Amino acid sequence: MTVCEAPGKVYLFGEHAVVYGEPAVPAAIERRATVTAEPRSDDHVRVEAEDLSLNGFTVEYAGGTGDRPDVDVPAPLVEAAMGYVDAAVRQARDAADAPDAGFDITVESDIPLGAGLGSSAAVVVAGIDAATRALGEPLDRRELADRAYHAEYEVQDGQASRADTFCSTMGGAVRIEGDDCEPIEAPNLPFVVGFDGGAGDTGELVAGVGELREEYGFAADTVESIGDVVRTGEKLLADAVSEADPSPELLAELGELMDFNHGLLSALGVSARSLDAMVWAARDAGAHGAKLTGAGGGGCIVALDASDASETALSFTHGCEEAFRAELATEGVRVVE
Ligand code: PMV
Repeated sequence: MTVCEAPGKVYLFGEHAVVYGEPAVPAAIERRATVTAEPRSDDHVRVEAEDLSLNGFTVEYAGGTGDRPDVDVPAPLVEAAMGYVDAAVRQARDAADAPDAGFDITVESDIPLGAGLGSSAAVVVAGIDAATRALGEPLDRRELADRAYHAEYEVQDGQASRADTFCSTMGGAVRIEGDDCEPIEAPNLPFVVGFDGGAGDTGELVAGVGELREEYGFAADTVESIGDVVRTGEKLLADAVSEADPSPELLAELGELMDFNHGLLSALGVSARSLDAMVWAARDAGAHGAKLTGAGGGGCIVALDASDASETALSFTHGCEEAFRAELATEGVRVVE
């Protein structure tokens, strides 16, 4: 039996603009998906995802994806647990050259689903890592990240960037620009996450930004401006490379850039009333800055705040279902046992 766990992420800067070749900086957070893989003597795959909903579910199917049965569980759970685990198993079989390998898989996760925190990427990364290790064929991190990206790409019909899977694999802060992905040094940033309990439709939101960009030159400029915010933020992080704990000046400057980034995303139409309410609640409580994270339209915001003030304020904010502190996960995917 092999157990691996992989972190979720927030976008410090750059979502949406990354689709148009601008850089983005996601950062892994200490909320993890845990996948257990136990090889079987037949080619069946049995997936147990007890804590992904109040009901949870267990499904067993034979052979490859074509034999996967329709299962009567809510759609996001099918995606999160079935589609992604299935894609992870196929990547692991391919990597280990073991097309008929069967597994008993268990998925547990404390990352809110489909809310911009990279829950599916964490399941895929931990799943491929656990399954390849269980077959005695562990992958190096670059190959693991690449295979996890392809698994997500397949499940999401081509709508996936490398950001979530690379960040979840490597941990810490990373820089994504097109297909170039690199870990970058970052101090231990004090994140607070607010979750409105919902999720935006990533495909629709990405398409909406695309239309605005086609229609208005200033929308295209806005996308480029997000790229400028990212470049400025990266430089701040690079200059602070020797700081284990971020200085008040660094937090103030990063927070200001996060506020700016949120404003630009808002201008592109991807914020929402609930997200704006949470962003303002965190700012009013004294956060250094706050922005939506991920595709937007609903889901999560991330604030920069070392005190408990934003978390408390968010928990009393209308529309905020869950608020939690989220330390930077310096370690990416790891073996638990
Ligand atoms: O909601 P998430 O975490 O999957 O982030 C989407 C980020 C976008 O830039 C909007 C799309 C993408 O694939 O990069």
